[in-house]
Amino acid sequence: MTYNNLLSEIKDQVLHLTINRESKLNALNRETLAELADAITLATSSREVRGVIITGAGEKAFVAGADISEFSSFNAEQGEQLAVKGQVTVFDAIENCPKPVIAAINGFALGGGLELAMACHIRIAASGIKLGLPEVSLGLIPGYGGTQRLTRLVGKGHAIEMIATADMITAERAAVIGLVNHVVAKEELLTKALEILEKIKTRAPLAIANAILAVNAATDYQQNGFEVEINAFGKCFTTEDFKEGVTAFQEKRKPVFTGK
Ligand code: COA
Repeated sequence: MTYNNLLSEIKDQVLHLTINRESKLNALNRETLAELADAITLATSSREVRGVIITGAGEKAFVAGADISEFSSFNAEQGEQLAVKGQVTVFDAIENCPKPVIAAINGFALGGGLELAMACHIRIAASGIKLGLPEVSLGLIPGYGGTQRLTRLVGKGHAIEMIATADMITAERAAVIGLVNHVVAKEELLTKALEILEKIKTRAPLAIANAILAVNAATDYQQNGFEVEINAFGKCFTTEDFKEGVTAFQEKRKPVFTGK
């Protein structure tokens, strides 16, 4: 698929997405959000894709936020519509993608950029990069799910401190408070993401999809996560991959999963 602001390539069952607006530090404008939503829909339905890596073009930024120039004259209703679009169409779709999505944070992850990373399942940051939710310095608050996802990831104290001060924190500090999973040298970012996905690719695809569903339910207050887990656990028993996994264990060989 060819996009204007997004580089997209499937390589070895991994969909590589690069936000490609380097001159604007990869700020998310309307078109980029729509392209991201389209790419995630494709990843969700494609049998070829087993995982997704999202990163930013250039040396400086992962994503420096929502594109400020697009909402500078918005009223309340337009603001709400923008938040709904970003939250539901794009960020929720990423979080609910049945294939693991990794944010490879190569530079500034600010505002909507950090919200994008937080919607991903796993975050790996390059050493020394900065992350933050600076919206209050613009007279706004995070609107793409940032107040919720940050609080769920790091707890209320760190979330309010980060949001209310608008301060950026380093990748190293983000790892300490649980905001990123790993910090690696910039040149190791892709290698680390691929290393994780290589392992995931050897596991049962439908079991992974069910695991994502159940884990997501843990922070969805409209669902009973334990019930979701019971249901997802039961569904695994209907899959060919379950039979293959157990048979392979008994036959002392490596399983060959087909995603069925
Ligand atoms: N929306 C729109 N454009 C943005 C942007 C954003 N969120 N972030 C950066 N840009 C643009 C700048 O306007 C500039 O464009 P120009 O060259 O046409 O003037 C270009 O990207 C480079 O940014 P610049 O500010 O010159 O780089 P810098 O190295 O001096 O500073 C940042 C880098 C990230 C500290 C700074 O760009 C910044 O604070 N960005 C906004 C972050 C933010 O508030 N995000 C939340 C938005 S809700």
